[in-house]
Parts: sequence; structure tokens; C-alpha cells
Amino acid sequence: MKSIKSATYFVHFEENGYQELNKLIASKSYSSLFILVDENTHECCYGKFIQNLVTYCPIELIEIESGEINKNLNTCVGVWNAMTELGADRKSLLITLGGGVITDLGGFVAATFKRGIDFVNIPTTLLSMVDASVGGKTGVDLGVLKNQIGLFANPEMVLVDTNYLETVTPREIRSGTAEIIKYGLTYDVSLYEKIKNSNNLDITKLIHRSIEIKNEVVLEDPKEQHLRKILNFGHTIGHAIESYFLESEQKENLTHGEAIAIGMVCESFLSSQLLGFPKAELDNIKQVVLSIYGKTEIEKGDFDAILEYLKHDKKNIGGQVNFVLLTDLEQTKIDCKVATEKIIESIQFYNS
Ligand code: GLY
Repeated sequence: MKSIKSATYFVHFEENGYQELNKLIASKSYSSLFILVDENTHECCYGKFIQNLVTYCPIELIEIESGEINKNLNTCVGVWNAMTELGADRKSLLITLGGGVITDLGGFVAATFKRGIDFVNIPTTLLSMVDASVGGKTGVDLGVLKNQIGLFANPEMVLVDTNYLETVTPREIRSGTAEIIKYGLTYDVSLYEKIKNSNNLDITKLIHRSIEIKNEVVLEDPKEQHLRKILNFGHTIGHAIESYFLESEQKENLTHGEAIAIGMVCESFLSSQLLGFPKAELDNIKQVVLSIYGKTEIEKGDFDAILEYLKHDKKNIGGQVNFVLLTDLEQTKIDCKVATEKIIESIQFYNS
């Protein structure tokens, strides 16, 4: 797989990725390497990773507990303390080996430790390969509010080894698939068509194309002033639903992708109602989402709480919720304001 060049770093793939990582470590003369894992990537991915590392640098392993619930400042404090006790300095390199929680949190920890040390992302889930590990967004949640604290900071490189996908559950693969559908609907419909027709999916090619798209968008608009907002399609309602399900004791947690898939159905409905997005495509999107993710019950009694979470969306300005909507496949309109009744209708459409 051809490497992808971003502004200040490359995304490298498979075996070549390890060679590039070893070269990077040698050329930068790091004082020590810190590998951040959770219990799952420690058990399932660390062995493969370490076999491929060729270095004389001292290596320290730091493990945090997996799960979105741990993507918070307390966990960061734990990692900062561990790094301090283990002698990390400004020439240390932090390597994040894991899913979106590890790469987002690890990038934030590195970018703020002693005013910033280098880090490398090695995503092990589909979601982190196609989205979280690329593009320089780092951060943690504040309570259940997603990614409220963070900063933009680029890694030194990203290494995508699709063999790590053998270590994750089908549910996690479906979660990452939602982001690929998002790239399809907003940017390159062939990705959506491939998922829709779902036979002979070449996952490596889908990952490579998804990263190319994300990279093109981020190169054009690194700080999300305009074009990058399209990557939030499905995420406005999706994040609110994800947060609500995370907090509610009556609800089973949803994966990020499951919530975003619901969000894409709702926001396609808004697109159809407000911007003339074709109804046939809307019905199609709903059908594809239901066939992959099944149906999640969102009851009338849940609406108020979900609307409350929408008020805290990071993209809101002056108290107004901002949506990215579609005028057609691959055609987006950013900064759309939507009345509350329409948002409720969109969830009812998903339910119907
Ligand atoms: N996950 C959306 C972005 O990186 O902009």
C-alpha cells in the first residue's frame, strides 16, 4: 500500500510501516520509548508490535483500562504520572497502540507533557485506522461530553497494519464501517456503494481510500474552519445519542459507529426535508444502516435528554446547533441551522 503524505507526517502501511518507524526512531535519537496500550492491545497486539521494533532505546509500557468511559483527564493524570516516574523527558517518544480512545488520549497526553513530546499513532481498530489516528485531533471527554478537552497536534507518523483487525470483534468492525459510509456519502460515493453491495469487500483498499479522503480534507482545512466540518456528518445527532446511551442506566452503551449510523439516518432526513436531498437515497441510507446495525429503540421519553446533549456539541456557536447536511450524494452544506421540532422528527423517522 502506497504511503500517504500529510502536512508534516506520513501514514505508512503494513511491513513498510515498521521499517519507517524504526528509521524514525533511529534518526530522531529518542531517549526512551513509551508504548501506551489498554489491556486488550497489551494482550493481542503488543507482541506483534514489539517483534517488529528494532531499537536500542529503552522501552517502557504503560497500560490504561479500555473503554470510552476512561477517556478522561483522570486517566491522563495517571499516564503523565507513570511517564514522570519512569523518567520520560522531552526526547521521549510516545507510541499509541490501540483504538480511538488510546490514539486520542495518547496524542493529548504527549502533546501536553513537558509542553509537548513526539508521538506516533498505531491504530488497531477500523475506527481509529480510518478516522481517529489521522488528522491531528487529540483529546478526552469531559463527563459524557465527547472530546470537549483537547488540541490539534500531529503525530510524527501513523502506522496502519491491517493485521491488527484480526484482534477486534465484528461489532468493532461495524463501528468503523460507519465512518467509511460517512466518507462515501459526503465525498466519494463509490465507498458507500461498495459497503451497500457488500460482496468482496477489500477492507485494505477501503481503509486506504478512507485515509486518503480524510487526509485531503484535513490538508485543505486542518483546524475545521470550513471543509473539515463535512467529517461531522451524522456526528451532531450521533454524538448526542452516544452520550445519552453512555450515561443512561436503562440503555446499553452504543459503539461510536452505531450512534453515528443513527445520526446519519437522522441527518439525511433533515437533508431531505430542508435541502431537497433525494428521498429515494434517504430510504436507501436507512435501509443500509438498519441492515448493518439493526434497530436501536429510541423512545419518546429519550428525546429531551438527547436534545439537551445537542446543546453541548462542540460545533455550536452562540447556542446554535450547527449541522452538516447533504444536498445530494457527495454534495454537502455546512453550518445549517435546524429547528428543534425537525430534529425530533428526524429521530421519529429513524424510529418509524
Ligand atoms: N473525526 C472528524 C475529524 O477528524 O475531523
